[in-house]
Amino acid sequence: MLDSLSSSNVRPLRAMRGEGDRIALDFDGGKVAWLSTRWLRLACECEICGDTASGKRWLTPGDVPMGIRPASIDASPYAVTVTWEDGHVSRYEARFLANHAGGGQGAARFQPELWSRDLGARLGRFAFDAVVEDDEMLFHSLRSLRDHGIAMLTGVPAETEATARVAGRYGPIRETSYGKVFDLISRPDARVAGETARAQIPHTDEPFRYSPPGFIFFHAIKTGAGTGGTSLMVDGFHVAELMRADTPSLFDLLTRHGVTFHREHAGEVFFSTEAHVISLDAAGQVTGIRYNDRCLAPQTASEDEIDGLIEALAELTRLICDPQNQFQHQLQPGEVLVFDNQRVMHGRSAFDPTLAVRHLRSCNIDRDGVHSAFRTLARRFAPEEAETVLYQGAIF
Ligand SMILES: [Fe+2]
Repeated sequence: MLDSLSSSNVRPLRAMRGEGDRIALDFDGGKVAWLSTRWLRLACECEICGDTASGKRWLTPGDVPMGIRPASIDASPYAVTVTWEDGHVSRYEARFLANHAGGGQGAARFQPELWSRDLGARLGRFAFDAVVEDDEMLFHSLRSLRDHGIAMLTGVPAETEATARVAGRYGPIRETSYGKVFDLISRPDARVAGETARAQIPHTDEPFRYSPPGFIFFHAIKTGAGTGGTSLMVDGFHVAELMRADTPSLFDLLTRHGVTFHREHAGEVFFSTEAHVISLDAAGQVTGIRYNDRCLAPQTASEDEIDGLIEALAELTRLICDPQNQFQHQLQPGEVLVFDNQRVMHGRSAFDPTLAVRHLRSCNIDRDGVHSAFRTLARRFAPEEAETVLYQGAIF
């Protein structure tokens, strides 16, 4: 779902004229749009000015003075040549100018598809062989991750090499303090909660890090089907929107009041991060979630705000625990759940460790690496989707 002026809507350009610090574009049909003259000069990507995408760029904002003006403009329906007062010549495509006119409403912002317990019917499922061998199938799975923040891979062999091979298709695997590809096996001397047999409220992993893990891969090696251990997945964007609609003042607190998450193993690590539980972008759209009830530090807030902040966290926790908001799935050996850890929360029901050994293998990939893979393949398989602005995660 794109909310942009799609390029197919762009009418041919009839004329273009400078009016002081602005440039007017007259399109067929009578529409007039405006650009900043200074912006236009800075948008030049000729050989002398250089190319911003590759970073081989030589013109800087400091090189373009406030009073810069065109000496002449030569507009044709689909291209424009501007000669500046210092003699520099810039060429632009009319479509490019149309997409940026009026402050750039042309930049399409992606609207994620929210889900609740009904995800099952829409969840993208992709076979290991197809994703490993076929770029177009890989692209479809990346699109699924963009839309829902989650996808499933099936038929993944139990070997560590297979986990790394399929995950590596989505971006470089991030080295963590547990290694690159690590095992989560239930055991009595558990060091982290994931190794116990207890239930876990859906959460995002490692919210105590400035930059929490991006996409997480959960590869089921052994699961105790029928003995609990059901995966509970929650769309954090969906519960955030429920809060925005039903308890707007609590939603607002979680977008502007810092919340501290921490993790300490004495003498080894001490992570602590103060950040917003719900991140918004400049347009007020939810772009990321960071929340794990087990990592909440004693919070710091004024006397006026502390009880409200705790109520906001309590309301969020209630929504996360509501089965109406949970997609529940019993993972089977060979399945891999891939999910965006800055959008989708994961948890599980308790299981009986005397009946089942639960063995998941996991690894992390940076979010921007996955989105980069999506955009790169979109250039080949769905060019109109490549430049859409994607939700950027738990950014602060
Ligand atoms: Fe976790």
